[in-house]
Amino acid sequence: MYSLSRRGLLGVGAGIAAASAVAVSTSHTTTTPAAALRRTHGDDTIPFHGAHQAGIETPLTQRVAHLVFALKPDSDYVRIANMLRLLTDDAARLSRGMAPVADSEPELAVAPARLTVTFGFGRELVARTGASVPQWLGPLPSFSVDRLRTEWTGGDLLITLQCDDALTLEHAARVLTRDTRFFCEPAYAYRGFLPAHDSHAEGTTPRNLFGQVDGTVNPVPGSDDFAGVVWIDDDSWLRGGSSFVLRRIDMDLDKWDTLDRPDRERSVGRTLATGAPLGGRAEYDEPDFEARNTLGMRVIPDFAHMRRARMADRSQRIARRGHSFVDTIDGATVSGLLFGSFQRDVTAQFVPIQRSLDQVDLLNTWTTPVGSAVFAIAPGCSEGGFIGETLFD
Ligand code: HEM
Repeated sequence: MYSLSRRGLLGVGAGIAAASAVAVSTSHTTTTPAAALRRTHGDDTIPFHGAHQAGIETPLTQRVAHLVFALKPDSDYVRIANMLRLLTDDAARLSRGMAPVADSEPELAVAPARLTVTFGFGRELVARTGASVPQWLGPLPSFSVDRLRTEWTGGDLLITLQCDDALTLEHAARVLTRDTRFFCEPAYAYRGFLPAHDSHAEGTTPRNLFGQVDGTVNPVPGSDDFAGVVWIDDDSWLRGGSSFVLRRIDMDLDKWDTLDRPDRERSVGRTLATGAPLGGRAEYDEPDFEARNTLGMRVIPDFAHMRRARMADRSQRIARRGHSFVDTIDGATVSGLLFGSFQRDVTAQFVPIQRSLDQVDLLNTWTTPVGSAVFAIAPGCSEGGFIGETLFD
């Protein structure tokens, strides 16, 4: 008999635990108890319940799936409530590493690996419940850079899954998709990624497929600043919730390859090596937007993405949460960014930034938005409640 508890092994380094693992044979099975009991990253969980939904202010994970659904014509407010209860129950269980009741592959749920599930609602879903529809919930104004494809536009229900383990994520995605079956049709889905967990020092800002450090200037999770940018605090059903803009932006890597390094750096206004602002030394140095070189030209050009994306009105800020994607369409590889941003108010915060980028942004030369949607992000719920319950108050 082994009396070592799971907890007792938490502090044991992986190498030591592996070295002390003892193969034990019984008449039925062969196991290595120490290895089996050793705590892995797969055991790590992010709480599902709380004032806010998980997956917004919680750490970035390696994988994301954004699943978008269209409500069936007969899904009225009673059916919507039933669906959201079902989805909430299963999402909460999966986030803990527990298989939902009717799961036919329960073994695929045991390593949550920081799985989070975040639900968003399109205009039609909110309208069918009779709750107030925020003015910003609907298609974005059109932008000249847009080449939107209808199959990647809009949607009534968004389920965003984030996880460090692709197998866990895909299993959870399938279970939750099954829950929607009587109420919705799948509309479209995106899958994206970030650098692997632990492949870089903790706190390293990820890079995108252009090789740029992407995510430096962003509200810090857990700060008052983040709360001010992201969480809705009016008296509506969305109190404690937010809004989410999701845009599929194709990136032309072949065209980008033809550009020399200084021009690449000028297109954003930051160095590729460290992500430092041009003229600065380290990633988090404050950019000097007034600095000029010996020829009298601006060090951070007028057309640089960073300059164009930084609004003089500091209330016009967003919390970006993007992921790279690589897709195969008609045999061709297509790469890009699943751009995501949370903000209290899409019209007041996201739209002015996108307008500024639409007017001038050198990055537009290599990037094309092809999908676009806006979702209302309900507040979180406590145990026994369900995501979206405030819609029915
Ligand atoms: C494929 C498309 C895009 C790429 C490759 C990209 C890349 C970058 C990079 C490398 C930075 C500098 C580092 C950082 O602070 O994160 C940056 C900053 C930023 N981007 Fe983008 N971006 C894209 C699209 C967008 C869009 C669509 C928006 C919003 C409409 C946006 C808003 C911002 C903001 C607000 C900043 C911070 C600006 C500041 O310094 O205050 N980006 N982006």
